[in-house]
Amino acid sequence: MRDPTIRVLMMPRDTNAWGTIFGGVLLSHLDQAAGLEAIRNTDHRIVTVAMKEVVFHEPVLIGDLVSFYAETVRLGRTSITVRVEVEAERRGQRPMKVTEAEVTFVAIDSEGRPTPLRTEDGAPPAGVPPWPANLPAGDPL
Ligand SMILES: CC(C)(COP(=O)(O)OP(=O)(O)OC[C@H]1O[C@@H](n2cnc3c(N)ncnc32)[C@H](O)[C@@H]1OP(=O)(O)O)[C@@H](O)C(=O)NCCC(=O)NCCS
Repeated sequence: MRDPTIRVLMMPRDTNAWGTIFGGVLLSHLDQAAGLEAIRNTDHRIVTVAMKEVVFHEPVLIGDLVSFYAETVRLGRTSITVRVEVEAERRGQRPMKVTEAEVTFVAIDSEGRPTPLRTEDGAPPAGVPPWPANLPAGDPL
């Protein structure tokens, strides 16, 4: 059985005006799960450049335990694309796929410009401390 990258319990603060979970809340967790997976592929800081093919299959409800499964599907020169599947567990029911998306990140240098994920020989970039030490305190992925 695969391990989720993150799991989150949905709370009343996460709802939209109709009482189901706000899609933006799910996107925020989805971005975080994808980022945690993507950062395994480089020692550089990364930023989200695109979220594609986001599909909300089923509503998510308060009390659902939501699991985000992230998998790297493409490595470019400076970009990393991660596919995320989201499942919700509701008491007394089987887990169901509620959302899926593809998220692309770009490795950036200290000037915020795209930079290769790896050096030419495939090694991590020299002089960059391993994650998470290279993130300034409080900095998001
Ligand atoms: C991400 C950013 C550095 C890219 O800069 P850029 O000059 O447009 O980058 P480039 O055109 O050189 O492309 C860099 C890589 O991103 C990929 N890319 C760019 N736009 C993309 C898109 N819309 N979808 C998928 N990949 C994309 C390119 O294919 C390239 O990948 P590769 O090197 O693996 O072939 C810049 O757009 C940026 O800073 N965006 C804001 C990021 C951010 O703040 N995100 C947080 C959310 S607010």
